[in-house]
Amino acid sequence: PVLVVDYGAQYAQLIARRVREAQVYSEVVPHTASVAELLEHNPAAIVLSGGPASVYADGAPAVDPALFDADVPVFGICYGFQAMASALGGTVEHTGTREFGRTELNVHGAGGLLHEDLPGHHPVWMSHGDCVTKAPDGFEVTATSEGAPVAAFEDTKRRYAGVQYHPEVAHSPYGQEVLRRFLHEVAGIRPQWTTASIVDEQVARIREQIGDGHAICALSGGVDSAVAGALVQRAIGDRLTCVFVDHGLLRAGERAQVERDFVAATGVRLVTVDARERFLSALAGVTDPEEKRKIIGREFIRVFEQAARDLQAEAGEHGQHYDYLVQGTLYPDVVESGGGTGAANIKSHHNVGGLPEDLDFELVEPLRALFKDEVRRVGTELGLPETIVHRQPFPGPGLGIRIIGEVTAQRLEVLRAADAIAREELTAAGLDRDIWQCPVVLLADVRSVGVQGDGRTYGHPVVLRPVSSEDAMTADWTRLPYDVLERISTRITNEVAEVNRVVLDVTSKPPGTIEWE
Ligand code: XMP
Repeated sequence: PVLVVDYGAQYAQLIARRVREAQVYSEVVPHTASVAELLEHNPAAIVLSGGPASVYADGAPAVDPALFDADVPVFGICYGFQAMASALGGTVEHTGTREFGRTELNVHGAGGLLHEDLPGHHPVWMSHGDCVTKAPDGFEVTATSEGAPVAAFEDTKRRYAGVQYHPEVAHSPYGQEVLRRFLHEVAGIRPQWTTASIVDEQVARIREQIGDGHAICALSGGVDSAVAGALVQRAIGDRLTCVFVDHGLLRAGERAQVERDFVAATGVRLVTVDARERFLSALAGVTDPEEKRKIIGREFIRVFEQAARDLQAEAGEHGQHYDYLVQGTLYPDVVESGGGTGAANIKSHHNVGGLPEDLDFELVEPLRALFKDEVRRVGTELGLPETIVHRQPFPGPGLGIRIIGEVTAQRLEVLRAADAIAREELTAAGLDRDIWQCPVVLLADVRSVGVQGDGRTYGHPVVLRPVSSEDAMTADWTRLPYDVLERISTRITNEVAEVNRVVLDVTSKPPGTIEWE
């Protein structure tokens, strides 16, 4: 793999994704990994990421110069660029000029291999206080900017290069090309990480792991569990059984969609468990968000356990045993739990994957190495329909955390109707791909006065929460066109009797989370 060394900025995962977009497999490793540990991975190249520290600050993570004895191609970005310069004998200084945001890059001479033929002046995204003022011996300086006398350098003989700017962000329009040139041309790596190769590799691994055993997969209706299930189905065919728990907190049409679309695309054996009553009674009288989440998570596990036992009992008659449980764990979860950064638990996320260990299953996690966009491509490759592959995220606890107040059957119906209208109108306006998601939230304990027809009403408000995001860690509220908002508002207040007011949430994340609970 190409190893992306994480110096603690948010950028390492993004860089890893960009490397993969250049069809080269990459993994993120913490900067605390020693050179020996890095080399154990047999890296095709190493990318040193940006980071918040100053190279000269106390305790700033340095680059061990031994890395440069290993004959591995190295690419430095921002902080990694400076750390690399400093480790190789160049000079990094605090000049007092800072550059943040959009900056003009001036390509020097022919631009070297990385910037050759790019426009002589083009925008890049910078974020630095220190800068490299002298490149190490053997390096050609190929670009400058107003605040960075050395904004890019390369030593193609030793297969080293670096840039002060952030090539991984969309605001650096030639960044991906520069990264690609480093990987393919400087480091000489062949682009082989394609969707077809991912599918082949994963199918082979699953077959090896499961052998002639049997597996169960809990479907949530979301992309991850669907793609994980479809991959395993591709690998072991009808020795996979999928279980879909209908907890009654689903949106309109979701259960039918899973039953129809997923089965049609994969031919998988699907068992649906109707647990609506059970969840409603468990949630009766509960208003606290965390308590709701815990109850939903707990009930989900119980229902799933029972389903697994039932399946087992049935299979046992034929002498089979379900030994494997499929989970849609993604690479970012793996990085985050391995990174041990101790991120605060803002909400106890309930994932369908969060099943108990005493279930006595061996886990099959075919998406462990993949980013979300790769998961979607794999889904398409496996023939899953758009409606599944490009489904917007929907939280495991479902509408249960979008009713502010107690969850009841009647309130669920109200919210489901309002949500269906919002989704219909957003889809009709062609906005599905522009927004990350648009939760509709029912303020069930709030009432306001309205006038409808000739009568006074005393109904509930719903909140529209359209957000744009890259990864749900941060988000901005989406500036939806007024005419679309108007249609949604008019239709909801006309068609959903209990709702007489539609309001728009204009809070970014932070400070507001995407969901209200
Ligand atoms: P928040 O509200 O934390 O949401 O800003 C971030 C993203 O995560 C989704 N979400 C969940 N997904 N189980 C899930 O599978 C959960 O418990 C859960 N809670 C929030 C939310 O819809 C948004 O996309």
